[in-house]
Amino acid sequence: MKNICIQHIQSLLLCGEDDNKPYKSGAAMKTLERIDGAFVLIEGGKITDFGAMAEFDKQRLGQGEWELIDGTGRIVFPTFVDSHTHIVYAGSRESEFIDRLNGLSYEEIARRGGGILNSAKRLQNTSEEALFESAQARLFEVIGLGTGAIEIKSGYGLTLEDELKMLRVIKKLKEISPIPIKATFLGAHAFPKNYSREEYLELILEKMIPQVAAEGLAEYCDVFCDRGFFTVSETRAILKKGHEYGLIPKIHANELDFSGGVQIGVEQNALSVDHLECVGKEEIKLLAESKTMPTLLPSTAFFLGIDYAPARNMIDAGLAVALASDYNPGSSPSGNMSFVLSLACLKMKMTPEEALNAATINSAYAMGMTQTHGRIRKGKPASLILTKPMPSFAFLPYSFGSDLIERVLIEGAWY
Ligand code: NIG
Ligand code: FE
Repeated sequence: MKNICIQHIQSLLLCGEDDNKPYKSGAAMKTLERIDGAFVLIEGGKITDFGAMAEFDKQRLGQGEWELIDGTGRIVFPTFVDSHTHIVYAGSRESEFIDRLNGLSYEEIARRGGGILNSAKRLQNTSEEALFESAQARLFEVIGLGTGAIEIKSGYGLTLEDELKMLRVIKKLKEISPIPIKATFLGAHAFPKNYSREEYLELILEKMIPQVAAEGLAEYCDVFCDRGFFTVSETRAILKKGHEYGLIPKIHANELDFSGGVQIGVEQNALSVDHLECVGKEEIKLLAESKTMPTLLPSTAFFLGIDYAPARNMIDAGLAVALASDYNPGSSPSGNMSFVLSLACLKMKMTPEEALNAATINSAYAMGMTQTHGRIRKGKPASLILTKPMPSFAFLPYSFGSDLIERVLIEGAWY
């Protein structure tokens, strides 16, 4: 592997300096540590040095073979950490998209057997190999868009066998992926039609969780705790069982209603509670007293035409927030994190600095990767985004939909 020197960088955005702080909250989210006129040195896939060009000692390039990259006019920052996706799925759901354009709601489509159950039917009829192929293509697609670490959920299986099939696909992706992947068991994504509620719950608790843990197939356990899906007490039972088996809790919370998902997430020490389109003072207060990361998914609100999470109220109340894509076939068929940043700014009134912190250092926390990802530090994996020439970082979320990422470096290799 060649060493790399990126020099004359217009701005190098570090996304955090203080190693004692695993994430940024409240007013601190506005701060984006940066060096204008900077260099970065990458040796053996790791960042070995960075700083101002004025302090750059050219002697450093004396030994070994170096690839010199001109960063003039460009911005360099850590790759995005996408802490919430569902990229293992079969088929697509643009027919439901048309149904919504014709006036049906997301929930109505789900009641008619579409939605998650539609994806489950397709996945059950798709081989592990075919699932792997399509998920691998999505994985490399998002790497090209700047994602340098990703979480992937099950939840379109909804039988023991098919949930395991999904998680085995994620395991195989881990083996070939240039970026780290965390796996989440989301058997509690919806109730399948061929079981009673009690029967499916028992299957999750007594069969799925023990088997997932026995095969070491997941780090996290997630539940869709919302109107029409899993109740607070069902969520509690599932997360507790998962915890017994070493799975860390996460929740799909408060997307469709004030579901109590935030309360149960905080009670169960969830690493993150995600969605949060329906959040008020009570939820904000609870989150402020917890270590649970509120994770916002604005491309879902955009695609479904629902209210956005109240990011401004949350940050102004002193909370941390993270951003993720929710890439899935039903509510967010895109894993484009630059677009997520644009939505965060335009629709949730986050500043570009807050949005980048939310999609790097804070989302790294939301998937247990603060030690390696989400900021620029010496000795850590060199996973960096090099932009096309632009006047300032704000140009990236401002130019929504444009492709402004020139190159993506993953642990020292270009993608
Ligand atoms: O995160 N909200 C629940 N689950 C997914 C969407 C599932 C689907 O429609 O396929 C989400 O939005
Ligand atoms: Fe999701």
